[in-house]
Amino acid sequence: MKRKKIKKGPKLILILLCIFIIGIIIFIPKDKVEQENKKDQLTEEEKLEQQLEKISYYKEENKKRYLAYQKENPDLSTEDIVTYVNIGIDQPYYTNTKPSKNLNTNLILVNKYNYVTEDYVPENLEPLNTTYARSGMQLVKEAKEAFENMSQAAKEENMNIIAMSSYRSYDYQVNLYNNYVETDGQEAADTYSARAGYSEHQTGLAVDVYNQELPYTSFEETEEFNWMQENAYKYGFILRFPKDKVNITGYQYEAWHYRYVGKDIAEYIHNHNLTLEEYYVKKVENN
Ligand code: DAL
Ligand code: ZN
Repeated sequence: MKRKKIKKGPKLILILLCIFIIGIIIFIPKDKVEQENKKDQLTEEEKLEQQLEKISYYKEENKKRYLAYQKENPDLSTEDIVTYVNIGIDQPYYTNTKPSKNLNTNLILVNKYNYVTEDYVPENLEPLNTTYARSGMQLVKEAKEAFENMSQAAKEENMNIIAMSSYRSYDYQVNLYNNYVETDGQEAADTYSARAGYSEHQTGLAVDVYNQELPYTSFEETEEFNWMQENAYKYGFILRFPKDKVNITGYQYEAWHYRYVGKDIAEYIHNHNLTLEEYYVKKVENN
């Protein structure tokens, strides 16, 4: 029998057609899957945006930063993302600073993101009674009275809570910080000392205490510290740099540093285990 000869031209076309069809089978679905994945990703991002916008202190101008911070910290709740970004902790310290608001009030926030100027001296500074303080200590009147009442209450239980550093001027902080930098280097100094203008000691609302027996750095080991844990908030003071909040405050744990905020706010902060930074974002800026 004579075999039918297929001409070369049509054979080539047939092969090319086969390759084309196989190509379509292999590649087109892949493209489709990729497109659908992209669609899903977009939906996830949109979902996240919607969740973020629900937080009452969400700020539209921080949107990009929220999304970037969430990517770096996928386990954080949306509430924490908004809180931390509004505080500023997604950016390096001292890089995105602004002047503190609420000057001369108990609400003033001074930290690595908010500063007071060189010439800021709080109104109503008054000397502390040396029964409760080393000589030369000053605080804003309301804080001074609260501190003395608190120290007196502790005294009545045979405890000594003595102010060893309180209001510090800008120039005083310049020298203090520079000395620490000289001793320990800037990186270490920044973990425990504020740069001038960024210390809340300049507000006249912060006080470092000791019990006159141990150095202030050992205050945590004293019964006075335990008393402060139980009672400071009742007089309007908060432990300003707690052990478990270093990432928020930007400072290592300071068992001896207390900040006057007034009784109501101190009680709220105490009951909700907040830092002043968190309280500020949730309750002050939000109003
Ligand atoms: N030690 C605190 C952070 C200050 O220097 O203000
Ligand atoms: Zn201090």
